[in-house]
Amino acid sequence: MKLGPEFAGRVALLTGAAGGIGREIAKRLDDAGLRLVLCDLNQDGLAELAAELKQEPLLIAGDLCQRSLLEHICQTVEEKFGRLDILLNNAAVVRTDRFDEYTLDHIESDLHINLITPLLLSRIMVPLLKQAPDPRIINTISLGGVLPMPESPLYSASKFGLRGATLSIAVDFEKKGIKVGGILPSSVDTAQLRHEALTGGSALNFIDPPQSPSHVADEMLRMLLEPRYERYPKVSDAMLVRLAMLFPNKIGKIINWFEKKGQAGRKRYLEERGLTSQVVRW
Ligand SMILES: NC(=O)c1ccc[n+]([C@@H]2O[C@H](COP(=O)([O-])OP(=O)(O)OC[C@H]3O[C@@H](n4cnc5c(N)ncnc54)[C@H](O)[C@@H]3O)[C@@H](O)[C@H]2O)c1
Repeated sequence: MKLGPEFAGRVALLTGAAGGIGREIAKRLDDAGLRLVLCDLNQDGLAELAAELKQEPLLIAGDLCQRSLLEHICQTVEEKFGRLDILLNNAAVVRTDRFDEYTLDHIESDLHINLITPLLLSRIMVPLLKQAPDPRIINTISLGGVLPMPESPLYSASKFGLRGATLSIAVDFEKKGIKVGGILPSSVDTAQLRHEALTGGSALNFIDPPQSPSHVADEMLRMLLEPRYERYPKVSDAMLVRLAMLFPNKIGKIINWFEKKGQAGRKRYLEERGLTSQVVRW
């Protein structure tokens, strides 16, 4: 999957760029000649990524939960480019604390980076997006935004929220010339998934082998080429979870049915990567 020459020179801002999926997306956009603004908490990860790119990106390291950082990003993009063509809200965290274990600070911080930050950044960037001829906002959501995950309640809360916001804004912004959509991957082989595997995250993530970050990056390019409200990198998983959600009162039973297969998949995932000895919670 490749972007055409019409994308060269467009300005794209990507959050969570140093993560597994972010890095792949950044490389694909760089290949297509886009000018990149890459943001992440992980300064070293950003520098490593930049060294692999053909063009020099603008790197902004820091905690995207700080509103002052979002305003700084906006001001920097305005001064350097005068417009923003593509905003990719991709940074997120997953924690596997059950709801009765969650600290109040973590409830706030997880909702912040996963839900509030994409909304704040999108809102702040609207004036710069409106300067672009064909502006886009794409949010990395998750199938955890369709099917509840009892092991990661705040992740589900934030991704359900982000999905609702994405669809609402997409319909409204369509009339205003900004195309908005969300990508909803199932499990992807990144640091986030490894964390879930080691700390007792949802076994449903491991029913099938995880997708590669490159597969999700392909879907992101597809979204740029053919914008839609939603895209699902793995359509079969998406059909299954949407079908399950037709029966919300049976969701506990449905999750339990799949649990056994997921546990076997997680065991295999950990063994294949030599991670079994590092398991913190099964
Ligand atoms: N990995 C999966 O199985 C999976 C499945 C569905 C959806 N997703 C979504 O894909 C996106 C990318 O996830 P990933 O798998 O690449 O995870 P990852 O952990 O590899 O990357 C996430 C990145 O976000 C950054 N980040 C986190 N908090 C931040 C903060 N406060 N400020 C700035 N940066 C911050 C991290 O430093 C990291 O580089 C996320 O939105 C995630 O929810 C992942």
